[in-house]
Amino acid sequence: MSERTHSTRILAIVALFFSSYIVGIYSAARASSQLLNSDAAHNASRSLEDKLDLLDKEAASLTETGLARSSSRNPRWFPFYTIGRFSNDICLGNNLLMGTCVISGECTDNNGVAAGSCSTITNQAICCIYQRTCGASTSYNNTYFYNSNYPAPFAGGGRCSIVVTPPDSTICQLRIDFLALSLAPPTGDGLCSTDALTISGGASQVPTICGENSGQHVYVDFNGVGSITISVATSGSYTFNRQWQFQLRMIGCTSATLAPAGCLQYHMGSSGNIASFNYVSAASSALNSIGVQGTRQLASMRYGICIRKATGICSITYSQVSSDAYSFTMTNDVGAVDPTLLATSAVQSQDCTTDYIIIPAPTQGGTNMPSDRFCGLGLVATTSAAKPFVVYVVTDANEEMDISNRGFYLSYSQNSCPVL
Ligand SMILES: *[C@@H]1O[C@H](CO)[C@@H](O)[C@H](O)[C@H]1NC(C)=O
Ligand SMILES: *[C@@H]1O[C@H](CO)[C@@H](O)[C@H](O)[C@H]1NC(C)=O
Repeated sequence: MSERTHSTRILAIVALFFSSYIVGIYSAARASSQLLNSDAAHNASRSLEDKLDLLDKEAASLTETGLARSSSRNPRWFPFYTIGRFSNDICLGNNLLMGTCVISGECTDNNGVAAGSCSTITNQAICCIYQRTCGASTSYNNTYFYNSNYPAPFAGGGRCSIVVTPPDSTICQLRIDFLALSLAPPTGDGLCSTDALTISGGASQVPTICGENSGQHVYVDFNGVGSITISVATSGSYTFNRQWQFQLRMIGCTSATLAPAGCLQYHMGSSGNIASFNYVSAASSALNSIGVQGTRQLASMRYGICIRKATGICSITYSQVSSDAYSFTMTNDVGAVDPTLLATSAVQSQDCTTDYIIIPAPTQGGTNMPSDRFCGLGLVATTSAAKPFVVYVVTDANEEMDISNRGFYLSYSQNSCPVL
């Protein structure tokens, strides 16, 4: 037997030992818990299951019950903790959703969906996806929240909510990714009065949004260990195919993906796009209160879009998405302007008091701009070296003088520091 085969065999034996060890512990406990269940001694089985959970979960693994778990035990004293840590990693399911790697019985017990194996040590470890709809509550990381019958649309009527509770105080933020979000559009004055997504209970404000927002996201600060409620209200009297699927991510207080204070959105790419809520290049079909074609832009916004500065980067440049002439139409009458002038300096305005974005310390073509506010019907490429990288968005409560505008859809790119 060669040296190599020999060590491979030893490894295999060790792996086999540990896999049967952990599966054994879990199965034995499950078997006895089933036994106890059948004796109707539910309380006893509950506490056994809790002990079991303590064994095969690490602190970062989240529980739906939100029970405070003892963290006073020192994991290093227990060999199975080491395997538990491995098995409770974040995993990508074979349905391309994010899950948590757990022993399959635990996934079933917690109403998860098994989406493929996630460990080379044991085929008992599966990637468990938590999917929830109206009326649910969760403390699991990467819970997916969707409309009833998703991916089929929902015709509307009523309120659909989920309550998200952080498992402990090491979690500071909730990142909500709108993988799909299509609700009834705002009125021609930019009000979400037919359908509305509201997010409450956090320590930071989230504006009410509606319309088309697939691909957008928001960050909300948890208020200690208090819960955050995500609620979609829809009006059944308005015929529309609503649809949503959100990914709910727990962000640890020391995570590199924690958004800085004041950022409703946080982008981490060295380049990418930012857009106002309900941005679509096509005009709104709704009329506004003065009877002309309304806006897509949502009223009463006040938030920051932050971009994480990459290493070796000194500034950031924002420009309109060039394929879309309407990609900066924030104030004034889109229809009254020669379309060839849209997106040019001829219609960029810095005299902004109603709806505008703020780019701190802006320069255009190397020249400092007199004001950091931008509105009108075009934005010339604008660079800022102010840190952190942020664009503030402000819209007032009255969009009636804004005719047929869409909002903004910008691309950003981070610029390397000059070589000295
Ligand atoms: C479980 O415990 C609760 C109180 O802790 C008690 O009211 C209940 O009767 C118990 N159930 C069983 C099945 O023993
Ligand atoms: C939750 O999952 C995300 C991946 O979607 C990961 O980045 C994050 O660190 C996880 N949070 C915790 C507290 O483990």
